Amino acid sequence: MSIQLAVRNMTKRYKTGEGVTGINLEIKKGELVTLLGPSGCGKTTVLRSIGGFLEPDSGDILIEGHSVISLPPEKRPTSMVFQSYNLWPHMSIFDNLAFGLKIRRTPKAEIQSAVSDVLKLVRLPGSEKKLPGQLSGGQQQRIALARSLLLKPAVLLLDEPFSALDAKLRHEMREELREIQAQTGLTMVFVTHDQEEALSLSDRIVVMNHGHVEQIAEPQQIYNQPESLYVAQFIGKMNFLQGVVSEGSIHVGHLKLPNEKQLSGQVKVAVRPEDVNLNPSADGGNGQTLPGAIRQIMILGHYAEVSVELDDLAMIRTFQSKEAVQLLKTGQRVHVNFASTLAFPTQ
Ligand SMILES: Nc1ncnc2c1ncn2[C@@H]1O[C@H](COP(=O)(O)OP(=O)(O)OP(=O)(O)O)[C@@H](O)[C@H]1O
Ligand SMILES: [Mg+2]
Repeated sequence: MSIQLAVRNMTKRYKTGEGVTGINLEIKKGELVTLLGPSGCGKTTVLRSIGGFLEPDSGDILIEGHSVISLPPEKRPTSMVFQSYNLWPHMSIFDNLAFGLKIRRTPKAEIQSAVSDVLKLVRLPGSEKKLPGQLSGGQQQRIALARSLLLKPAVLLLDEPFSALDAKLRHEMREELREIQAQTGLTMVFVTHDQEEALSLSDRIVVMNHGHVEQIAEPQQIYNQPESLYVAQFIGKMNFLQGVVSEGSIHVGHLKLPNEKQLSGQVKVAVRPEDVNLNPSADGGNGQTLPGAIRQIMILGHYAEVSVELDDLAMIRTFQSKEAVQLLKTGQRVHVNFASTLAFPTQ
């Protein structure tokens, strides 16, 4: 598939020294790619540079193969949806939506049918005459999205567009955005600091840390194969245990684990809670288990989170089915082993 947007070795440093360094991205036509990372890691800086609102110090930005680096925002084939909707409060929804098309001298009849179509797409048909204030936050954000869609950008940029909405609405908007993407085939760059949002929404995720890119991959791969300790810590729930390499294996307590990356010395072993097998007997069997005691049981609907304090090691979290948890109580001696583990060098 063709590359719709390429960011090449882009650096943007503010006077304070903060910013982003050496950003490289290639986004395919029709892809939804998320920039994910904690507050201050540089997501907005990258997005605003793509949109032309910031001038990078070096590097290039190409859309459909052409450099847009010297173009102002309005000349770029991009459109941006912000966290705050920026609708004109005294103008009707129709006028809010039609504005950009009028500037482009689109014929009146064409504007009318385009506005009507886009309102259907964002599931607000017939709301042309309303004022923004007569709509809920979620509905206003859909209008802001519609306004961007009308401009038919080559790349749609969205900067935390749903973060002001409550959890339920945010969920719905995610599904709608995916549906709109399926219908329009638009290329989108979506910024969020919410890893769940990124995992559920994206074709690929760009994990950012302190102004640089840590990993770019599909959500499953980011979750299953984080490339760095940072990504392992940032995405999903993870347990960490101290390990040490000797005789070709990683040792955690008396447990021997494979050393696939051929690390040496001290290592951090990472285990997903769902990959912890818990044996509710005090007797560990074949020695390939670690002993511990249950410290806490938290029922979370159809499953439970059970924390186990491993003897002479760390506290780890496990997920148990609601059936399995009925056999468990706090203080109980248990044994655990791991269905799969990851290992990282300690920095
Ligand atoms: N105009 C500016 N002048 C100076 N420093 C800035 C400016 N804008 C952003 N920064 C700094 O650059 C870094 C990256 O900021 P950016 O806004 O890109 O982060 P972000 O990942 O979007 O964060 P958030 O999730 O909080 O929106 C931060 O440390 C921020 O303080
Ligand atoms: Mg931001």
